[in-house]
Amino acid sequence: MKSDLQHIALIMDGNGRWARKRGLTRIKGHTAAEKSIHDAVEVCDELGIKYLTLYAFSTENWSRPKAEVSFIMKLISRFIKTNINDMDKKNVKLRVTGRLNDLPEGPRRELQQAMERTSSNTGVNMILALSYGGRAEIRDAFVRIAENVKSGLLNPEDISEVMISDFMYNSDVPDPDVIIRTSGEQRLSNFLLWQSAYTEFVFTPVLWPDFHAEQLKQALSEFKSRKRRFGGLK
Ligand code: IPE
Ligand code: IPE
Ligand code: MG
Repeated sequence: MKSDLQHIALIMDGNGRWARKRGLTRIKGHTAAEKSIHDAVEVCDELGIKYLTLYAFSTENWSRPKAEVSFIMKLISRFIKTNINDMDKKNVKLRVTGRLNDLPEGPRRELQQAMERTSSNTGVNMILALSYGGRAEIRDAFVRIAENVKSGLLNPEDISEVMISDFMYNSDVPDPDVIIRTSGEQRLSNFLLWQSAYTEFVFTPVLWPDFHAEQLKQALSEFKSRKRRFGGLK
């Protein structure tokens, strides 16, 4: 059954706790996260959900121990290398949001090549949020708007909400209908701050490596039971 959802965004949290519970090192939890990512893409494909944003690494995550950060960066490269053929075959269009230039050269190159290779695919837009911060995104938009004002291309009075959206990283992507966060934490942690003004939130205690197709479908059915009013009285 096709869904009328356009964009779901997932805060993939709880990898470290998943590993610790099993007496493993935290990084094993990041490795175990891969199946859940495949499942999420699969579910979007099945339900005809066009945009899937996955919060993989925040601007704040750089403050983690160096060994963990460098493991995650290597994992990103490996993930792309091992999955690019399959993603392309499945018509997935890989995209990123965030400050890609912050990433080490290896993963940056893999991501760039994968984005080029899948750029004309018409299936699920899989958007990896990497070195992403909502405030960083808003700040970057401010800078570009200010430059346009300074050069006389833009009048301050003409700045509208729609125009601000156009200055965000992926302005063609509709705002997320729902943000789902795993692991029991109930916060945004700097995710999609501008875009989430009227987004529904679903929080689940399930840790990300245990969050498979069935759990995602359950979260989506919770979303479906919500009445979205957008400030009106319908
Ligand atoms: C999410 O899992 C992955 C990243 C933030 C990179 P965590 O690593 O935050 O796992 P917990 O929250 O410590 O369990
Ligand atoms: C949010 O998780 C970022 C990602 C899932 C990539 P964190 O684990 O970094 O968030 P906090 O620190 O618990 O808020
Ligand atoms: Mg966490």
